[in-house]
Amino acid sequence: MKDIESALIEERLYRPTKKFQENCNITAEQAIKQHADYKFNPESFWKGLANQFIEWDKPFTKICSGSRPFFKWFEDGELNVSKNCVDRHIKNTNNAIIHISESGKKENISYKKLYEKVNRFSWSLKKMKLKEGDRVIIYMPTIPESIIAMLACARLGIIHSVVFAGFSSESLKDRIIDCNAKAVITVDGFKRSGKLIESKKVVDEAIEAGCECVKAVLIFNNLNLKISKNKIDFTWDEIAPRESVVVDPLSMNAEALLFILYTSGSTGKPKGIMHSSAGYLLNCSLTSRWVFDLKENDIFWCTADIGWVTGHSYVVYGPLSLGATVLIYDGAPTYPDKNRFWKIIEENKVTVFYTAPTAIRTLMKVGEDSPRSFKLDSLRLLGTVGEPINPKAWVWYHKMIGLGNCPIVDTWWQTETGANMIAPLPGISDLAPGTCTKPLPGIETAIMDTNGDEITNANIGGDLVIKNPWPSMLRGIWNDENRYKQTYWSKYNGKYYITGDTARYDDKGNIWIMGRSDDVVNISGHRLGTMEVESALVAHINVAEAAVVSYKHEIKGEAIHAFVSLKQNTKKLDNSKYADELRQWVKKKIGSIAVPERISFSDMLPKTRSGKIMRRLLRNLARGEEISGDTSTLENESVIAQLREIL
Ligand code: PRX
Repeated sequence: MKDIESALIEERLYRPTKKFQENCNITAEQAIKQHADYKFNPESFWKGLANQFIEWDKPFTKICSGSRPFFKWFEDGELNVSKNCVDRHIKNTNNAIIHISESGKKENISYKKLYEKVNRFSWSLKKMKLKEGDRVIIYMPTIPESIIAMLACARLGIIHSVVFAGFSSESLKDRIIDCNAKAVITVDGFKRSGKLIESKKVVDEAIEAGCECVKAVLIFNNLNLKISKNKIDFTWDEIAPRESVVVDPLSMNAEALLFILYTSGSTGKPKGIMHSSAGYLLNCSLTSRWVFDLKENDIFWCTADIGWVTGHSYVVYGPLSLGATVLIYDGAPTYPDKNRFWKIIEENKVTVFYTAPTAIRTLMKVGEDSPRSFKLDSLRLLGTVGEPINPKAWVWYHKMIGLGNCPIVDTWWQTETGANMIAPLPGISDLAPGTCTKPLPGIETAIMDTNGDEITNANIGGDLVIKNPWPSMLRGIWNDENRYKQTYWSKYNGKYYITGDTARYDDKGNIWIMGRSDDVVNISGHRLGTMEVESALVAHINVAEAAVVSYKHEIKGEAIHAFVSLKQNTKKLDNSKYADELRQWVKKKIGSIAVPERISFSDMLPKTRSGKIMRRLLRNLARGEEISGDTSTLENESVIAQLREIL
């Protein structure tokens, strides 16, 4: 609960400009009214919003039903999410998607065109005998076709599960098997930082390793690569309808699952977070309106990959449900050079830009002055997500990218919450760099102390919890009800949703996120369980034991330090050779994001007498801190001195 010093001295305040205030979607009076409406009657608050933001096929009469920890929202209503995101905007004159590829190709897709494409894709999914309730894996980079595939699934009530295209074949296989997916949609390959990644080959490896549930693989030709074809493979060109087709959207129950998205927890096995149709769409839509202030004439660039929840909520469902234009770029921020992001903003007159602190820090480092050579005055709002943003990066972002005119929305949320929970309302909030400010109307959070009491004073850290259900809350973990109850609801007698984050208030009541309270680390804004990396390491033939902890990293926020002891009979080689081999191994087992930055080899790891590795001590060592807390249960005290020597 420490590490709050830098935050404590942050006293700068930034007000929105008059121009922004005059044009924002939610004014101070409206915000006061929303908070009051919620307080007066939460059900009628959500009812009003659900009718305002969603086009229903069958109106709902129930609002929130069920009891902790299982809730249903609008459960007797019917809608189709794809229809809400596409069909109702086909008369729009703006584009739905602007796509820029890493190689510089640009494609504009109007809402009408998107409608045609989604219908064609839906027709093909039907031809592949996929139907309502089936699970389909989408293993693709952030290109229009992946968005189209998601919307086509939604049109037919098929549950999609997007797997980040950077994950290895093993990670892909685990997810396919966990949700018993019937089909995989992928591409021949894609490029990142100029390097070729052959996705179809990865899918083949996963399937060869044993995914009997998969009956069909659909390959979209992204790069014109030569691919090998198996019995269950269809190429997009083979299966696409020859002429334009219309596939009626299925009226789905409000609670029908829209998607499953895997995220890391504190055990080795990722959790399949389930999201519903109506509740999820509602929070995505209203936060796109309130927090990102989106209007139809905006060009919204959220740099997230569609493999993460931010890509789901703020590349696809939120902005498209409002009929706005999203820009997607499937490439690296610094490819071919450090100016890439700023050039895209200038050339496409991006108005709202949403990215992660790690990207901001990278771009700061590679070129403090590079944004100066670009015209960035089309921007009117900036956002960040995924990890706490350090005040220095915040101020740089505000000054150099926002030219001092753009409010920054620091949005706190999670895969599980579906949409922004704590975030500024940009037209009214005074912004202090580093805080995500206060909960949005309709969201009630609290910070709890170790006795289970709510903390109300400033600068005391505790568990961040959400007190009341909200429409886009997760509906559980796929196939693992117990883990859902245990992870999210057990700590305070099932009363509150446990976020897993710790936080504190400042003296103005703003919330400052302090970090995770479990064994989850946040690398470049991506969540990773340290257990996942440990399991990968110990699966290596030469590794006897491994313990993984995180330490502060200038660019990534946090990075991984692995402590490894090799098996006794391991051939004596240079440690750096083993380190390289283990890095490659982890990349193969999980993906590049999990590769440890530092690896230290030691004959012993610090253990309690009962044989448990004391990760707390390793954390202290990795972070260059004094050893804190009790070491009396340590089996072998000399191990600390030995480890210090090798660091
Ligand atoms: O620790 C919090 C951090 O990211 C976690 C959620 O990760 P994930 O489910 O992958 O979703 C990331 C995108 C929503 C949280 O538990 N986090 C997210 N946003 C912020 C944040 N930490 C501080 N400030 C934020 N704005």
